[in-house]
Amino acid sequence: MCIKEVLSPINLRNPDDAAQWANEVNLKRPWRVQFFDYYATLIQQQQRVEILEIGSGPGDLAKHVLGRCPDIHYSAFDFSEAMHKLSRSKLLTHELERADYRVGDFKQTGWADALAQYDLVIIHQALHELRHKAYALDFHKIVKNKLLKAGACYLVCDHLYAEGAMTNPDLYMSKDEHIQCLQQSGFHVELPLEIKGLCLFQCH
Ligand SMILES: C[S@@+](CC[C@H](N)C(=O)[O-])C[C@H]1O[C@@H](n2cnc3c(N)ncnc32)[C@H](O)[C@@H]1O
Repeated sequence: MCIKEVLSPINLRNPDDAAQWANEVNLKRPWRVQFFDYYATLIQQQQRVEILEIGSGPGDLAKHVLGRCPDIHYSAFDFSEAMHKLSRSKLLTHELERADYRVGDFKQTGWADALAQYDLVIIHQALHELRHKAYALDFHKIVKNKLLKAGACYLVCDHLYAEGAMTNPDLYMSKDEHIQCLQQSGFHVELPLEIKGLCLFQCH
């Protein structure tokens, strides 16, 4: 299969581009925080301890969950040192003590090999960074087979390809495409939250 990847308009490994993205994202989509609240509540209710965020970015989620869930350990995985730096800068000393930062590229073979297994894996607004939806199936299978402990939960939140939302059908998936892809990877899927084209898929 020949996959024509969609080029990114910004270089998130570049410190200026990373800072610009970080400065704009919560102004552009202030409802992100409602997803972070959902994750924090789920972590508390289900007593999830070991958390991995893939494509962790500037640390908005890290700050949110480490501040609210005192018993967790949070691991951040991203290919951008610049993003990790922004993330670390948001955390207080006692939050940093419960966090670790891994640099890696989830488009490279074996990307998950150096990671552990987790109670909860989250990918928030970063699945489309695969740069083509055709890569999502293999990505989800790697998460399922390598990164989840027995009984663990996998949260996938991304922009939908839909009317009034995203318009590129190569980069973004419709709701049905997400569900099918996750089910094909072996997950049972629920949709607990959707706001303005940003949709959360909760998988077991
Ligand atoms: C759109 S940002 C989302 C960041 C964060 N999840 C949030 O919502 O605040 C996507 C993140 O994925 C990272 N990323 C993009 N491609 C990646 C890759 N191939 N491997 C690892 N991280 C990647 C970027 O550096 C960036 O931090």
